[in-house]
Amino acid sequence: MFEVTTQAYASKREHYEDLCHQARGLLEGEPDVIANAANFSALVYHSLPDLNWSGFYLYDGTELVVGPFQGKPACIRIALGRGVCGTAAQTRETQVVRDVHDFDGHIACDAASQSEIVVPLVRADGSLFGVWDVDSPSVARFDADDRAGMEALCAVFMAALESR
Ligand code: SME
Repeated sequence: MFEVTTQAYASKREHYEDLCHQARGLLEGEPDVIANAANFSALVYHSLPDLNWSGFYLYDGTELVVGPFQGKPACIRIALGRGVCGTAAQTRETQVVRDVHDFDGHIACDAASQSEIVVPLVRADGSLFGVWDVDSPSVARFDADDRAGMEALCAVFMAALESR
């Protein structure tokens, strides 16, 4: 049985390094994308403090559709270019939003969300798989270390996806 490690870490970087290690172990050898996406969401949600949503929006060839996640029910479909998720998908750049109320076009799924980070998920061949979205009930929850850490975690997820 897999146990989420919740020890005290010397730094955020160290915490993300350990999370990447745990994610590799969790996803290794499992070819089912939905199973891996669900477990990845749960791992992050239960490991990092001060979150109220973590999960995937998957690209169906036209728009983003909500995938496996932890947190309250979310909006189902998001057009490319819309909201934080659609912007990350369209620009293919991680979006770190300090205060969602300041982001033009932010889509409020849960009124508790105050800040957000969204990482685009792009396959090795350049095609869009979807985005990884994490929300917090605190303003300015995500900094440069979170950005680097979330991008590293997403690289672990995409590597597992592409090694199937
Ligand atoms: N706030 C996101 C929508 C998804 S929810 O946060 C789960 C956005 O603006 O794209």
